[in-house]
Amino acid sequence: MAVWSAPGKVFLFGEHAVVYGKPGIAMAIKPRVYVTVRKTRHPPRVKSPYLEKCFELMGVNGSVYIHSQLPSSSGLGSSAAVTVATLSAINDEYGLGHTKSDIASMAHSVEKSVQKGRASATDTYVSTFGGVLLIQGDIKRRLPPEDFHLVIGNTMVSHSTARMVEQVSKFRATDPDIVNPILDAIEAVTMRSLHVFQDQRALGRYMDINHELLEALGVGHPALTRLVTAARAAGAYGAKITGAGGGGSMVALCPKRSKSKIAGAIEGCDGRAIITTIDNEGARKEKEDERNRTDKTGR
Ligand code: MEV
Repeated sequence: MAVWSAPGKVFLFGEHAVVYGKPGIAMAIKPRVYVTVRKTRHPPRVKSPYLEKCFELMGVNGSVYIHSQLPSSSGLGSSAAVTVATLSAINDEYGLGHTKSDIASMAHSVEKSVQKGRASATDTYVSTFGGVLLIQGDIKRRLPPEDFHLVIGNTMVSHSTARMVEQVSKFRATDPDIVNPILDAIEAVTMRSLHVFQDQRALGRYMDINHELLEALGVGHPALTRLVTAARAAGAYGAKITGAGGGGSMVALCPKRSKSKIAGAIEGCDGRAIITTIDNEGARKEKEDERNRTDKTGR
């Protein structure tokens, strides 16, 4: 039996634009997914297309048990974390000898096949390696870890990343003159943010601009607007949609002293708040007694 875990993530800058080869900055966060894989002769069937693909890609069968601290379909990279932890646990249980880089690329190909070819490597790389990463196509650069205090607001409005990515792609096909400049502007904001990474007030202003550009792309939602506005009013340096949008979550960059107040403001607008910070570990092997915390999903 092998037990592995992998963290969720937030996009600080550049979601959707990364799908078109633009740069994006994402950070691994503390909540994680725990996966137990066990060799079995008669594995039960799995319903999740991500798990199905993981076993298919590794060419083995087994049972899998999942315990998640990340709400699913909420823009926090739970499917990438499940994929990364499952591939890592299969690799370990069957002694397949894949490196962390192999796991990251395999996880990306699993995401791509489930999301019909449209998935950047961001979620899977950040979940595998942890930390803050600048991702642009095949280039992945680790940025110095910053002590950011984040408050995430989950709207509890479920969304589908694949559907939101497809919506943007259709908008771009019908109105390239509108959408391409928005993607260029997101790229400019992402690149400018690198110059002010230590100045959280300035970084927050760029997050606000990135949010408005995502609204212009059509991936906003009234519930996201409510939480973003509440977080800013309660003292956040900046706040924006994180992930695919259309529901899901927003993220606020906060002064340390204000994070409880900002979390309270989000909860006051019917959001679920998560106060969190950076995870620098990425995918990691857990002790076997981790199984006591796992829920069976079957395979
Ligand atoms: C989803 O977390 C982020 C998107 O940019 C899609 C992707 O990068 O694959 C919307």
